[in-house]
Amino acid sequence: MKKSVFDHIIHGGDYNPDQWIDTPEIWDEDMRLMNLAHVNSATVGIFSWSMLEPEEGVYNFEWLDKLLDKLHENGKDVILATPSGARPVWLSQKYPEVLRVEETGIRNEYGVRHNHCLTSPIYREKVRNINTKLAQRYKNHPAVKMWHISNEYCGECHCELCQEAFREWLKKEYHNSLDELNFKWWNGFWSHQVTDWSQINSPKFRGENHVSAMKLAWRRFVSESHISFFENEIAPLREITPNIPITTNFMKMYDGINYQDFAKKLDLVSWDNYPAWDKGNNINEALDTAFVHDAFRTMGGGKPFFMMESTPSLVNWHDVNKLPYPRRQELSSIQAVAHGADSIQYFQWRKSRGGHEKFHGAVVDHCGHENTRVFKEVSNLGKSLEKLSDVVGERCNSKVAIIYDWENGWAVKSFCGYNNLQRDYYHECTKWYAPFWEKGVSVDIIAMDDDYSKYDLVIAPFLYMLKEGTKERIESYVKNGGNFVAGYLSGIVDKDDLCFLGGFPADNLKDVFGIWVEETDSLPDGMKNVVEFNGKKYDAINFCDILHASSAEILAEYKEDFYKNMPAVTKNRYGDGIAYYCTFANSGDFFYDFVKELVSTNNIAPDTGIVTENGVSVRKRGDMIFVMNFTDGEQKVTLDKTYKNVLTGEEISGLTTLNKCEYLILE
Ligand code: GLA
Ligand code: ZN
Repeated sequence: MKKSVFDHIIHGGDYNPDQWIDTPEIWDEDMRLMNLAHVNSATVGIFSWSMLEPEEGVYNFEWLDKLLDKLHENGKDVILATPSGARPVWLSQKYPEVLRVEETGIRNEYGVRHNHCLTSPIYREKVRNINTKLAQRYKNHPAVKMWHISNEYCGECHCELCQEAFREWLKKEYHNSLDELNFKWWNGFWSHQVTDWSQINSPKFRGENHVSAMKLAWRRFVSESHISFFENEIAPLREITPNIPITTNFMKMYDGINYQDFAKKLDLVSWDNYPAWDKGNNINEALDTAFVHDAFRTMGGGKPFFMMESTPSLVNWHDVNKLPYPRRQELSSIQAVAHGADSIQYFQWRKSRGGHEKFHGAVVDHCGHENTRVFKEVSNLGKSLEKLSDVVGERCNSKVAIIYDWENGWAVKSFCGYNNLQRDYYHECTKWYAPFWEKGVSVDIIAMDDDYSKYDLVIAPFLYMLKEGTKERIESYVKNGGNFVAGYLSGIVDKDDLCFLGGFPADNLKDVFGIWVEETDSLPDGMKNVVEFNGKKYDAINFCDILHASSAEILAEYKEDFYKNMPAVTKNRYGDGIAYYCTFANSGDFFYDFVKELVSTNNIAPDTGIVTENGVSVRKRGDMIFVMNFTDGEQKVTLDKTYKNVLTGEEISGLTTLNKCEYLILE
């Protein structure tokens, strides 16, 4: 059975030759260069709407016909985009309702991109029209292998159409009952009871912005509006081209859209990866990127994902755009494959001559030829990727999961209380992820309502909000033999940010963890408590839950302040499993030691026997093992047996050295 959409790793990226429409020789030169660069695919048409429909209802597809034919003649696969990410000027001029209204209530003028109203029936219709035309015209084109829907959906609109849609959304959410809404939003406080749906507007700085349940509802609404906009976009494609898979490119952990929900609508998840290499701590950057790759792989149900964009050299939108070290981007690309990517794609193929992104890295620079460092690196990587076809479609096998949940992230951000300055849910999760990454243990990044049963260990940092069914899910997981770790301030509120009554963590979880959390202390930056665990002392920073152990065993205690000698980490046997509770935030060293213990007591072995130093990451995907040096120097790696070096075909064993940015692919 075919494991993937393609049987080889896709190597290519955004190709915008509509910029060079008057110089056909450049198109021909592009084909020559793509062959030289071992590029096998091109993503086209992302921002081509005004070229495809220069006037309302007047279409011009001839240039795209020629382009697709040319790519096909040269053996390239095409990922064809729908152009809704940027509108033609005529459309905004004739139908101002398509323009987004900002939180200030002011409607934007035409400009930039990614700024349509999510609700406008006219924009939705125009998008459906152009998508229908594209699908009809190219449904049988042999080069077209996948749809790239729009580009990096983002933002929100506060126009009257969106306000009305929000009210309709609320009616559905709260069963057409203002009583229910008033209760769930706790509107009895500050005299906020709503007596008519028309009284509700989107949250605004100059309006309502203190009702956290309402802010959560708005976030859910905006997220669902993007998804429904997407569904409107793809309706004609599903009908006319049912066999062409669909993706849209996500932006790292962008929190304006619940990607964990959105991913369920895609045939394949893809994302745009722009780490800030060589500007600070490369090991942290690598760890952060690894976490995101794992999150997208998990969102796609464990199937391979696409790295839809990356830069082959520098970007143009950092404050200072540092050139990456030689082979850095190659290493970054191999990291994506190691974590489950079946594609390495760039923004963009050829540097723009003008416009906003003319100094953004591209495979072909303004000089126009192949004799550049960047071109050679891309071409070398392309050659290597051709040797990795066996890994295409292969999965990574994770026995450990970390819950990073989009909606919990929204809730953590929106409440007022405790430590209002240190509220970085994402980094709290990456801190727990770090020791696994360093030890070469594969981790999935799941949502709170995903299936826990396939994991030996599930870690839930700062799981402040519990959706319906989550308490029961945790309980049954532990009862049936699972190991569950909760971080501080877990199990505090429900989906509408209403606190659970009767003590924290919520309801049955007090029994599962064998504890009751009475208070939570918040420590200003620079202030700390001390926790003693296995005879060693660690800093407790930012948050400290103060709890009582009922049935739980105490693994660590606080050593200072009025809660000296009270439990800091607990462990409770419940049914056939164990539930741990960790009451405090820490800068990292505690997690390393605690995870070491979790991993050994729960028999979770690293995915390979290869031993490396800090900053050298080992990943196993299918039968291939990737060893990658993210440090700024040479590192030693000890191989536990004789492997085949996939890229050279040679046998390799024992102690070996990896230079800066060097990697090994073993079998
Ligand atoms: C995003 C966009 C691209 C381009 C790149 C530049 O990812 O999708 O169109 O603007 O950024 O880094
Ligand atoms: Zn709108």
